[in-house]
Amino acid sequence: MKTPDKAVTLFDEAAATWDKPIRVELARGVARAIINPLPLNRTMTAMEFGCGTGLVTALLAPHLGKVVATDSSSGMLAALRKKIDTIGLANILTRQLDLTRDPLPEERYQLIYSSMTLHHIADIGALMRTLHALLAPGGRIALADLASEDGTFHSDSTGVMHLGLAKEELLSLARQAGFTELSVTAAHVITKEGNDGKEHDYPVIMLTGKQ
Ligand SMILES: C[S@@+](CC[C@H](N)C(=O)[O-])C[C@H]1O[C@@H](n2cnc3c(N)ncnc32)[C@H](O)[C@@H]1O
Repeated sequence: MKTPDKAVTLFDEAAATWDKPIRVELARGVARAIINPLPLNRTMTAMEFGCGTGLVTALLAPHLGKVVATDSSSGMLAALRKKIDTIGLANILTRQLDLTRDPLPEERYQLIYSSMTLHHIADIGALMRTLHALLAPGGRIALADLASEDGTFHSDSTGVMHLGLAKEELLSLARQAGFTELSVTAAHVITKEGNDGKEHDYPVIMLTGKQ
């Protein structure tokens, strides 16, 4: 059995109390930013990368055929499975997967989306290439994350690899990985107290692109 790293343990422990109103609101904003521009339909197979407790996936699943919700944290996936059993979201499958180190699934997806996971990934260029390889021809990515921030967002920086992400950097890495029809839009604004004790607005941006 693999020894979980500190970040995985942190997310395992956070799972039970993850669904706070601020995160539910964020998930609504991100889901809207995916549903509005993208042509979703009930025949599509999608993957969420870093699904957490499935806040975004629960909102997107009714618009999709099948969703494979993946995360490296077994605690997060257990919380999502409980939700699936309670609400009856029959088209969501859960899979423990770290796309930065585990063998890739054989399945190909029409859509891969994520929310607030990119800033936990050290080599985003490598991840973009992996996502490109996992898409079916013409498939799309929709990746939402914090825009560049000043280091005040996280109260615990375990597993935080980037202080948000710059629009130009995301576009450039996605272009280099082979994506086309690229765009970065505003998805949401998180208003909360930072680790400096002051209230901040943290914009969340969304990168979309086509294989
Ligand atoms: C900030 S949380 C966001 C969770 C969820 N997307 C949401 O919006 O509520 C980041 C998630 O990414 C997962 N994660 C971090 N690094 C990962 C990796 N390398 N592979 C898979 N999941 C990862 C964590 O376990 C955690 O559930």
